[in-house]
Amino acid sequence: MTRWTLPPGKIPSAWFNVAPCLPAPLAPPLHPATREPVGPGDLAPLFPTALIEQELTAAPWIDVPGEVLDILRLWRPTPLVRAIRLERALGTPARIYFKDESGSPAGSHKPNTAVAQAFYNAREGLRRLTTETGAGQWGTALAFACAQFGLECQVYMVRASFEQKPYRRVIMETWGGSVLPSPVDQPDHPGSLGTAISDAVREAIGRRDTHYSLGSVLNHVLLHQTVIGLEAREQLTLAGERLPDVVIAPCGGGSNLGGIAFPFVPETGVRLLAVEPLSCPTLTQGRFDYDFGDSAGFTPLLPMYTLGHDFVPPSIHAGGLRYHGDSPLISALVRDGRIEAVAYPQGKVFEAAVQFARVEGKVAAPEAAHAVRAVIDEALAAKETGEEKVILFNYCGHGFLDLSAYDDYLHGRLPDEQG
Ligand SMILES: Cc1ncc(COP(=O)(O)O)c(C=O)c1O
Repeated sequence: MTRWTLPPGKIPSAWFNVAPCLPAPLAPPLHPATREPVGPGDLAPLFPTALIEQELTAAPWIDVPGEVLDILRLWRPTPLVRAIRLERALGTPARIYFKDESGSPAGSHKPNTAVAQAFYNAREGLRRLTTETGAGQWGTALAFACAQFGLECQVYMVRASFEQKPYRRVIMETWGGSVLPSPVDQPDHPGSLGTAISDAVREAIGRRDTHYSLGSVLNHVLLHQTVIGLEAREQLTLAGERLPDVVIAPCGGGSNLGGIAFPFVPETGVRLLAVEPLSCPTLTQGRFDYDFGDSAGFTPLLPMYTLGHDFVPPSIHAGGLRYHGDSPLISALVRDGRIEAVAYPQGKVFEAAVQFARVEGKVAAPEAAHAVRAVIDEALAAKETGEEKVILFNYCGHGFLDLSAYDDYLHGRLPDEQG
């Protein structure tokens, strides 16, 4: 057997909160003007009460509302797949499993939190949500979720992607969303997640009927993604494994990594590995400090690894990994040594993605391909040592709308990267 599914009734009914597992509580976010700790009231112009509570809670489990489960059931539980053909091609004794999050309506893990966020905003009477998106994965997820709850969705899309990758814009518009290139006031700027967050937050602050929704970084976003790891734990048991030796995921703002890895944090023998681009090496080369979540300095300051909020990463194809900062939860676990991090240049990433596609048939999103690179390297290391290592990774999105990236790689046009 190479594929393990769970029945619809087995979608986790509670999210796993990693906060109580941290050695020390997270330092609080600071107000951008006063630099004092923000209270729930400071966040109210941007987020509904339920999400502010989830952001701050120390409760170990949070119930998933029935209305959210009903929509998640459109594609969850997602399959766990053993990449046996990749194992054979590498000649490794490692057993490689991936959690396939690519079957959601938007084609990635992002709808797991988009649905929850749209639900809580709709329940508290909001009419519109604004958000940022890189290559469009998060924007499509939120546009889908808003359509489910009758909310308007305004997406600010990083200009480089808006111009190079129109198809996700078309999906967002198909689901009723509106899309603008960011930064809105600088037409020659390629944009970054930081500029797009500034545009989206500015609009939400200025309108009473509008809230802001973030696709990663914040505690509640990572909380909603833990359905991935909770399902994977159960499916690994079905596959006859006890625990993985290592859990691997790409890391932009940290949501898919947190989603698959957090339920394994209490298992001290399980290694957790974040994979990032060498051109945006937040965890491997950034400093741990308070910094703004956006470029313009509208958001609270978060305690995290950062390259500086004015850092504009090169326009690599993995748009979702072009973020200067990282989740405070992930950052704390990296600083603590519980999560490791590695960075790769995109040429090495696409080499692995093509190898994976040729044996497993899956064309990975450029973000997911970062995990594939690290998985192949872990499996080759296991071949050297002869270790029967169990590797679990998050296949967090398909690359069907990123084919220009594959085209560039296959035809020698992938730009060189720093490092
Ligand atoms: C498929 C995919 N994977 C990973 C990411 C990185 O974000 P995060 O670290 O929050 O999972 C993105 C972001 O857009 C994405 O679209």
